[in-house]
Amino acid sequence: MTALSVNGQPVRYHLAAETPLLFALRDVSNLTGTKYGCGTGECGACTVQVDGKAARACRVSIGEVEGTFVTTIEGLSRDRDHPVQQALAAEGAVQCGFCTPGIVMAAAALIGAVPDPSDEQIDAAITHLCRCGVQPRLRRAIRRAARAAGGEDAILAAPPPGIDAADAARAVPALTPIRK
Ligand code: FES
Repeated sequence: MTALSVNGQPVRYHLAAETPLLFALRDVSNLTGTKYGCGTGECGACTVQVDGKAARACRVSIGEVEGTFVTTIEGLSRDRDHPVQQALAAEGAVQCGFCTPGIVMAAAALIGAVPDPSDEQIDAAITHLCRCGVQPRLRRAIRRAARAAGGEDAILAAPPPGIDAADAARAVPALTPIRK
């Protein structure tokens, strides 16, 4: 058994300790916002935060994250109102969306650690593969998110959530305890 916190809730996985965190999140906790792309640590689609730092969930076992605080895209904000989410929408830095959750988690970790990241710091932190080619817009969006997080910018262009967070939780009962 492996105990950790996922999106603020205590979780115990009755899985082999070497199980990739990605599989535990997606297949057991039903947190499918974290995407499975390459499975080899290259694409970044599976990025989550472990104790606030970006981590490739396909390359980290649950045993390695025992006792940590894991945050997925579902736990980053209640209403998609994190500055990175707002800025990506406002700057059109989302295309097909498959890689977006991983990028958002990495960018949120970046601006949490570096309040005013340079292009070089953004490029170093966001090594994700995006087949749609949003990288040039990403830099602009992440710089804007950093400004918004620091209160120097206001982002009004992002659309409101399409569904209520409570409705979504009922429809996709992620992290509902498994009854024995
Ligand atoms: Fe983990 Fe690609 S699925 S880096």
